[in-house]
Amino acid sequence: MAQDRVNTLHPEYINTIKQGDCIELMSEMPDECVDLVITDPPFAIDFKAARQNYNRNGNRVLQGYNEIESSDYLTFTLDWLSAATRVLKDSGSMYVFSGWNHLKELLIAIDHCKLTTVNHLVWKYQFGVVTTRKFVTSHYHCLFVCKNDKKRKFHPYCRYDKHTRTEDGGSAHYRDKEDVWEIKREYWPGAIKTPTKLPSELIVKILDYSSERGDVVFDPFLGSGQVAVVSKIKGRRYIGFEIVPEYYGLARKRLESDRYLVYTTEDEPVLDLSFPTH
Ligand SMILES: C[S@@+](CC[C@H](N)C(=O)[O-])C[C@H]1O[C@@H](n2cnc3c(N)ncnc32)[C@H](O)[C@@H]1O
Repeated sequence: MAQDRVNTLHPEYINTIKQGDCIELMSEMPDECVDLVITDPPFAIDFKAARQNYNRNGNRVLQGYNEIESSDYLTFTLDWLSAATRVLKDSGSMYVFSGWNHLKELLIAIDHCKLTTVNHLVWKYQFGVVTTRKFVTSHYHCLFVCKNDKKRKFHPYCRYDKHTRTEDGGSAHYRDKEDVWEIKREYWPGAIKTPTKLPSELIVKILDYSSERGDVVFDPFLGSGQVAVVSKIKGRRYIGFEIVPEYYGLARKRLESDRYLVYTTEDEPVLDLSFPTH
């Protein structure tokens, strides 16, 4: 089944993650070798605010987050998105997360790369940062794009059949396919974590609709390794890159130990691959 896909990508890449700059590492990959890109690139944010935010609860939150200066963000986005487009198969899809403040650069880069926008999704999460002079930001954008709209995969009844109803009598598959996704962030009490991470439920939903078992899923900005870890749990093959050595180390530890959460010492509780509850 997956043999023809394996041939397009050297086996040394399959089910591996690498530490380094994804733009350089992508230049070593062949054209059209991945089925699905799910990624959450660094946002260009205020460095002072970022330091305060990321230092807030110290010990188990790994430091070293690699942010991009606002003035460099368009060039950075054009560079990585062009590289990711080259390695995406003609039948592939890409889901790119973005905050609202630099959405403009992402939309420009999507046009530049001649990608087709399939959906502009909104991920609504709980607990934004409280404000007094403006509304609370409680969403991210997620751009679902592809190279060839006729060839991309989409499994419309992968989670609910046509007859399943919601509690209020609506159509479950319709509700699940609405473009606003209300999904809670995960809390990993006591476990080693990075400052930002995508909830597993979000990644599972994308994998269900836009991939099949054995597909190659690629994340150039791995962070804690969520996309690779969840892809592995769901029987997909994975490739990923991360520039910050500590984050790469965490992602690698999670993948190699087959543990969803990892702890600092061996005598702390160890969870298996089941997803945390909210
Ligand atoms: C928003 S975070 C990704 C979080 C990830 N989705 C998760 O769930 O943990 C973006 C990541 O990109 C990494 N990064 C920034 N520039 C990079 C580059 N040029 N190459 C590879 N990784 C990079 C950052 O260190 C950060 O970990």
